Amino acid sequence: MDSFIIRGQTRLKGKIEISGSKNSSLPIVATGLMTDEKITLHGVPRLSDIDSMLKLIGELGCHVYRHEPKSKSVAEGGPDLNGPLDIQVESEKNCEARYDIVKTMRASICVLGPLLAKRGKAVVALPGGCAIGDRPVDLHTRGLEKLGATFRIENGNIIGEVPKGRLKGCRMYLGGAQGPTVLGTINVMCAAALAEGETVLVGAACEPEVTDCGELLIKMGAKIKGHGSPEIRIEGVDKLHAAEHRVIPDRIECGTFMVAAAITNGELELKHCNLDHLIAVVDRLEEVGVKIERSNGTIYVNAARRLNPIEMTTQPYPGFPTDIQAQLMALLSIGDGMSVVTERIFPDRFLHVGELNRMGAKIRKEGPTAIVHGVKELQGASVMASDLRASAALVLAAMAARGTTRIDRVYHIDRGYEKIEQKLNAVGAQIERVKAA
Ligand code: EPU
Repeated sequence: MDSFIIRGQTRLKGKIEISGSKNSSLPIVATGLMTDEKITLHGVPRLSDIDSMLKLIGELGCHVYRHEPKSKSVAEGGPDLNGPLDIQVESEKNCEARYDIVKTMRASICVLGPLLAKRGKAVVALPGGCAIGDRPVDLHTRGLEKLGATFRIENGNIIGEVPKGRLKGCRMYLGGAQGPTVLGTINVMCAAALAEGETVLVGAACEPEVTDCGELLIKMGAKIKGHGSPEIRIEGVDKLHAAEHRVIPDRIECGTFMVAAAITNGELELKHCNLDHLIAVVDRLEEVGVKIERSNGTIYVNAARRLNPIEMTTQPYPGFPTDIQAQLMALLSIGDGMSVVTERIFPDRFLHVGELNRMGAKIRKEGPTAIVHGVKELQGASVMASDLRASAALVLAAMAARGTTRIDRVYHIDRGYEKIEQKLNAVGAQIERVKAA
């Protein structure tokens, strides 16, 4: 297991190219199961979670081919460091997503809707809890049941079937106690795209990743309206066809690097991003005192010396994303006063609090809220990565801290940040990857 050794008090300055979105790519790769024809995807990042999803659809009968990159950037302005990805179904015999894969990547649940809609059967290992909470999948199955699927749990697997042969559209509400579900909305939208008749999905998640998947489905021949709003209308079609698509830029990676500029009192130019997807993040960072400007898909970020304390609550899109809560907390830990951070999507997502406190932060947790008393500086320490975004927060804190920090178990970071140490080192960070003894 690799670790990072990070020398602190570095100031970041320069350009970083934002990768394609991990959370868009994962369900979008799974839509490859929904047609017999070839899907070509651009901008899919090279990450261990993407490798797991490609392995999974490979086991489900897809041929996956990654082309060599032709040039560093493509005409549309998106990053294409990785080469396009072709996905084509060759066999529909296997409908099982094994626990070995699901346990490493919960987003495996994305194959449920596509498999039921196209093959009429799905066996998906039930994902267990994870570092950020219980993470049930009841809304996914409830939505699919309304379309006519049946489910039973057997030996830790969800077994889904379509007794009538084809799913049937209906009007349904998909919200839950914590609000809408992103991957649940995508699963039901995918299934409804091949169902008979019209589906109206009320209480749908509005995240840009839902919109992106909807856009690909439309290119494949689906009839979808309202994706990106709380009410999605889907008129089912008999089959979907080949399509080519570029995934949106990773708004969470972009937000993380915005905080990186702020926490190191640096100046970054972030290329190939969509600031419209980060409106709540920009709002909170500006309140803290961070200066943000945009021009043609590039964001310029630099920070004031004095960081104001703020109140912040995570919410479904377009609210402040839970996936940037930990990173912002790292910044607020060296703010000038007391900040209040409330987590409304995953109320237990605070594993970074203890680790930031090891680095000298003064953060107290009270239920779903953290009270952050800003300190003058953080100090280097040995800390442990726990989940993807908490680990990113530790990298940010370490770059600002006095002294050296060691972060163990950085495989969590590799799940979701493409070449993070190369990108940050190229703008002045000092991060070394070492193999654990
Ligand atoms: N929920 C239920 N029942 C369900 C599904 C969700 O109660 O069947 C609850 C969840 O427990 C949570 C809330 O609904 O309280 C929202 O969860 P959601 O379903 O939206 O999360 P997700 O779709 O499983 C995606 C991202 C997460 C991100 C969340 C929220 C992917 C692969 N994952 O998860 O990303 O935090 O949406 O925006 O898209 C990450 O990238 O680090 C990450 C965890």
